[in-house]
Parts: sequence; C-alpha cells; structure tokens
Amino acid sequence: MSTETEYRPGLADVPAAKSAISFIDGKRARLEYRGIAVETLAKESCFEETAYLLLKGELPTQKQLAEFDSELRQRRKIKSRLKDLIKCMPEHGHPMEALQTSVAALGMFYPCRDVSDPAKNWDAALRLIATLPTLVAAFARIRQGDEPIDPRPDLDHSANFYWMLFERVPSPAIRKVIDAALITHAEHTMNASTFTCRVTGSTLASPYATIASAIGSLAGPLHGGANEEALSMFEQISSVANVKPWFEKALANKAKIMGFGHRVYKVKDPRAAVIQELAEHVFAESTRPEKYEIALELEKVAAPVLGSKGIYPNVDFFSGVVYESLGIAKDLFTPVFAVARVVGWVAHWLEQLQDNRIFRPEQIYVGQRDVAYVPLEKRP
Ligand code: CMC
Repeated sequence: MSTETEYRPGLADVPAAKSAISFIDGKRARLEYRGIAVETLAKESCFEETAYLLLKGELPTQKQLAEFDSELRQRRKIKSRLKDLIKCMPEHGHPMEALQTSVAALGMFYPCRDVSDPAKNWDAALRLIATLPTLVAAFARIRQGDEPIDPRPDLDHSANFYWMLFERVPSPAIRKVIDAALITHAEHTMNASTFTCRVTGSTLASPYATIASAIGSLAGPLHGGANEEALSMFEQISSVANVKPWFEKALANKAKIMGFGHRVYKVKDPRAAVIQELAEHVFAESTRPEKYEIALELEKVAAPVLGSKGIYPNVDFFSGVVYESLGIAKDLFTPVFAVARVVGWVAHWLEQLQDNRIFRPEQIYVGQRDVAYVPLEKRP
C-alpha cells in the first residue's frame, strides 16, 4: 500500500515504462530518437525515414524506405462516409475535437478490436500515420465551405499535407520546413499524451481508440495546446515595446508564460532551437513577423527571472509563429502537432503490446469511511 511520502503529484520522476524509442537529457538539451539527435534528423532525414526509425528501431535501407513510403501513400484516402461525418461537425468546433472524433470513427471503418495480430496492428499503425493529415485538412476545408482535397500519391507526406490544406504544392524550401517541423514533433518520451496512449493501449483497446485518447490529451493548453496559447499571448502583447510591462504584470499575477517551462528540460528545449532555425528559412520567403520579434524580446526579458528557475522556451513557444507564416490557422497548430506525434504514439503502443500489463496504479484515499446512509426525508 502506498504512503503519503511516496506520492508524487503528476508522477514526477516516476518511471511508467521501459522504452527504447527516445531519450532526453534535460540538463544538456539533448533529444534522441533511437539514439540519433533530433537536430541531425531534422536536417538530414525526412519524415517517412524518421517514422520508420521510430517504429522499427533502425534506419531503413533504400528498399525498406521505398516500401514503407509506398504503404503510407496507399493509406491516405478517407472513405466518403467519413467525409460526410466531418461535414456534419459544427464548423466552429475545435479542430482537435474534430480530429479526435474522426480518428475514433476511423476505427469503425477499419475495425481492429483484436490487437493480437501483428500484421493487422502494423496496417493500423500505417493507416493512422497516413490518414491524420487527410483528416486535419478535410475539417479545415469543410468548415470554410470547401470540398476536401484528395491526397496526391505523387507527393511525399509533408508536401501532400500542404497540398490538401491549400491546394498548392509547397516550394522545396517550405516543404523542408514542414517536414523538419514534423520530425521535431514526432516523439518525446513519456509526456502526457504518450502516457495516455500507453494506458489506453494497455487495456488492449483498438489502436484507433488508443490514438483518439492521446489526441484528447495533447489538446490541453499545458501540453500540445500551448502552441496556440503562445500565439494568442503574442497577439495580446501586440508590440515589442509592450513586452516588458506585459511580462512584469504577468509575473505579479503569477501567470504562466505559455510556451515556457518543461518537466524534464531545465535548459532551452532543443526543439525550440530547431524551430527557430526553420523560422529563419520561412521568413526568408516572407517577411519577419512582429510576433516573432515579440517572442524574441519576451525570451530576453524573461531569461534573468525565469532562467534561474530552469524555465526556458519549449517547442511550443516558436512553432506557432512559423505555422502562421505558412498560412496555417491558429487552431490548426495542435492538430499539426498530432500529425507528427502520431508516429511516437504508435511506436509506444506497439512497444507496450510487446510486454503488456494493464496500468492500474494506486491512490491515496483521503475521503470518509463507514458513513451511515441517512434516508432523504430525514436529511436536514
Ligand atoms: N511560466 C511561469 N512560471 C512557470 C512556467 C511558465 N510557463 N512553468 C512553470 N513555472 C513555474 C511554476 O509556477 C512553478 O513555480 P513555483 O514552484 O514557484 O510554484 C514551477 O515553475 C514549477 O512549475 P510546474 O507547473 O509545477 O511544473 P510542471 O513540471 O508540473 O509543468 C509545464 C510543466 C510544461 C506544464 C509547465 O512548465 C507549464 O505549464 N508551461 C506552460 C505551458 C506549456 O508551454 N506547455 C508546453 C510544454 S512542452 C510541449 C508539450 O509537451 O506539448
């Protein structure tokens, strides 16, 4: 039985699984996927290759990559009845809720309620990775009164996602930015949504129910939803000159700076640095937005106060500014995160199933005991 002294709110520092998928050194700003630094993958790899690495544990050969890529391309389309379902969703609903609903519905079109067959599980894993961009883009189009755009099998994963959102093929530079952003967000050890995924997966729920639950977890503003919140914060600050007074007021009110802080990183999140490098590539094709200048100023002003507590920008601080410069709507930032993170979730789901035991932690009961039932008419 647990005692009060063993209780750690938020399970801080409590290992919840053994995993060989990714590694963080929070003091040295190091994130590795299967041992390879995320910065290297963002520069040298592509989304499909990184996905293969995360799922299979090693880099693919040319033939393996070609086959994997082709398997993904074959699974991008969604059923017309699923499009009809998305058409029935309220256009002002949040795209993360639309995505969670659509992914759960996907499980009704491709039932996988028995997770004991590795071939069926692999098919579901590929389908989820391939289909999430189609679902995100379909809702984005439908809610503005447009027909969804079919995926193009001649485009790679990132270019096809951009195509389905905007009906334009991205320039090679923009394609690379999207691809690198997806790589950077693809996996991140035992965060809340990955833990959710492993908990749901541990009940032997279907992969679609499992990933839908992870999407719900990612949506919160303390997790993936922080990218949207960070951009709203820059909008509220509104000018570089207002950064200092805004920050001082936020500190006085004990408000959290969205896109700052992390349970594991006590230095600047290495992914934030990758995103900043990508930002410069995007701004080379457009103008450098004031919101980015506001972000830089806020980082500078906050450093002496929050830096001493180990609170620095995380990945969500700069990503929204980049996505907005690409023309992506603010409420689609977290769905874009999900399009990337589905790879990590699926890798953890498959790993969980290899040596599964249902999650069933303990609680510390702090309620009453042996209370007498008082009939309704006798209650004061
Ligand atoms: N701004 C100001 N103070 C902060 C912040 C922040 N963003 N984050 C943490 N702190 C302070 C917090 O007030 C607390 O201070 P005190 O000890 O004086 O009460 C201390 O730091 C510890 O904070 P915590 O909330 O207990 O830390 P945690 O490890 O439980 O939470 C976090 C981590 C990421 C939820 C938190 O830093 C936070 O809420 N950040 C803002 C939301 C955000 O950017 N989330 C994205 C996380 S990274 C990407 C992702 O996973 O999606």
